[in-house]
Amino acid sequence: MRTKANMSSTRCRSSLLISVLFAVVLVALPIPSSATKRHVINFRSPGLYPEGLTWDPSGQHFLVGSLHSRTIHSVSDAGVIETLISDPDLPENATILGLTVDSTNRRLLAAIYCVPPLLPFSALAAYDLRNGGRRIFLSTLPSLPGDDQDIARDVANDVTVDFKGNAYVTNSAKNFIWKVDRDGAASIFSTSPLFNSQPVAPDADATFRDCGLNGIVYISRGYLLVVQSNTGKVFKVDEESGTARLVLLNGDLIAADGIARRRSDGTIMVVSQKKLWFLKSQDSWIEGVVYDEIDLDVEGFPTAVTVAGRDRIYVLYGRVMEGIMGSYKEGRVREWFGIEEVASEKEGGDDKIWLYGLIGFGFAYFCFWRFQMKKLITGMDKKTT
Ligand SMILES: *[C@@H]1O[C@H](CO)[C@@H](O)[C@H](O)[C@H]1NC(C)=O
Repeated sequence: MRTKANMSSTRCRSSLLISVLFAVVLVALPIPSSATKRHVINFRSPGLYPEGLTWDPSGQHFLVGSLHSRTIHSVSDAGVIETLISDPDLPENATILGLTVDSTNRRLLAAIYCVPPLLPFSALAAYDLRNGGRRIFLSTLPSLPGDDQDIARDVANDVTVDFKGNAYVTNSAKNFIWKVDRDGAASIFSTSPLFNSQPVAPDADATFRDCGLNGIVYISRGYLLVVQSNTGKVFKVDEESGTARLVLLNGDLIAADGIARRRSDGTIMVVSQKKLWFLKSQDSWIEGVVYDEIDLDVEGFPTAVTVAGRDRIYVLYGRVMEGIMGSYKEGRVREWFGIEEVASEKEGGDDKIWLYGLIGFGFAYFCFWRFQMKKLITGMDKKTT
């Protein structure tokens, strides 16, 4: 009995070792794919400092928001920028953060936030893309009962939309999610205790230490994925109940900001100021694997990622921090900003590297679990005898 147990635990430990090595070789091997020779779009708009980026499939152009001018612009493949929306009903100097296109209803949804010393303001705006950008609603987002906005304000950060036109907005200061229905009725949707259960990354600096739930994306099977900047965790949130669970990953996405999903194969991209991560899952995000990470231009302060035509992936270099701090070079606001294509070299053709990584990681996890169970059972045996 004892020898059998010892043998199987030895076997498990060696297979654990093998699968860990396997996962390390295939996944963690840090050969960051180069971001060269990709489509680069430069566009000129003095002082824009855009934070949000999305792709409008009908218009076949990108949409970007402004840091302070209450405007949203289209940017073509060739870098031609046009003002699509100018909304004087937003508070003066309000910031446009997350953007998403509701393709079913041909609407643009924008998360709006006011940076101190402006008065606290968090809202979701909806604009009609069929109609020159006429505003459909501007819904202020409710605070938690008894929460004092003068002490710490809500931050409406990113937004995604389901097929019925319901929008989901992250509150990155208070770690919860709002829901805004098609008609603009806003409510607090998910306040899962899990959102406050994870440790803040020890190396979290001032740019994201207080930033919790951030990028959010709706997945067609009735749930959302949301990333948390200061912990690097990803949560899967049920669309009906708002209950959350932690997605098991082979690494933390520290300082994660925007998120996007490539519909054709379900790949998830998450951007931070330093990296773009590529993630896959085979079990609807109970667990997933980061199978590639690409170094980005830190100076450009990337904040958002989107999937454009022909499945191409783009990040936005909006240099937002320079705009917020007013740290302009030679005292002049920046005029040029960029949208750049990024691709993973680990996914050409039928090269299924991510799958091996996922299997390796899953197997390692399974062995670890078995090992723990064995210890538990052995412990219980000792007690009973
Ligand atoms: C908005 O920004 C401008 C330029 O920085 C400033 O002069 C103005 O006072 C600001 N408005 C508010 C309401 O803070």
